[in-house]
Amino acid sequence: MKIHFLYGTETSTAEILCEDIEAELGDGFDCTITSLGDVDPADLDGETFYFVVTSTYGNGDLPMAAQPFYDKMEADRPDLSHVKFAIFGLGDMVFSETFAFGSKILMEKLLERGAQMVGERGIHDASSPELPEDVAVPWAQEIMGLARAEAA
Ligand SMILES: Cc1cc2nc3c(=O)[nH]c(=O)nc-3n(C[C@H](O)[C@H](O)[C@H](O)COP(=O)(O)O)c2cc1C
Repeated sequence: MKIHFLYGTETSTAEILCEDIEAELGDGFDCTITSLGDVDPADLDGETFYFVVTSTYGNGDLPMAAQPFYDKMEADRPDLSHVKFAIFGLGDMVFSETFAFGSKILMEKLLERGAQMVGERGIHDASSPELPEDVAVPWAQEIMGLARAEAA
């Protein structure tokens, strides 16, 4: 099984989190980690499982480098019905009105384009005492169980 981690970040938390998840769960899988800014949604394939991890900036927006990925889905309306993904959002409840909206809007756009979401959106609150990896790794373990069950 191929796993492709796609991150959207401003200050690297999401990227490091992808590395943490890969270190914990990646053994035996063919793993890649890429910025959302370097991926065209039309190139997502049906042989790969995508873990999307993104933070939120501005007024509930995606990190700047991730915005073109969203914009391409909006403009080109690709059929992503072959794509399987799970999504994890980083946010901060200090911004309660737009908490983790980056991952929310990206999830909604992927679903609108027909992509199949596995499990529920994971979320980390930077105002909580928990470390992102202590939330994301158990979440990813659960997702992998679901993805494997679906593939079997
Ligand atoms: C200028 C600024 C704006 C932010 N806006 C939001 C927001 O609207 N909603 C939210 O949930 N978090 C917001 N955050 C919090 C970040 O999403 C959070 O700190 C995240 O862990 C950063 O991850 P990153 O290092 O991968 O970018 C904001 C942070 C900064 C510095």
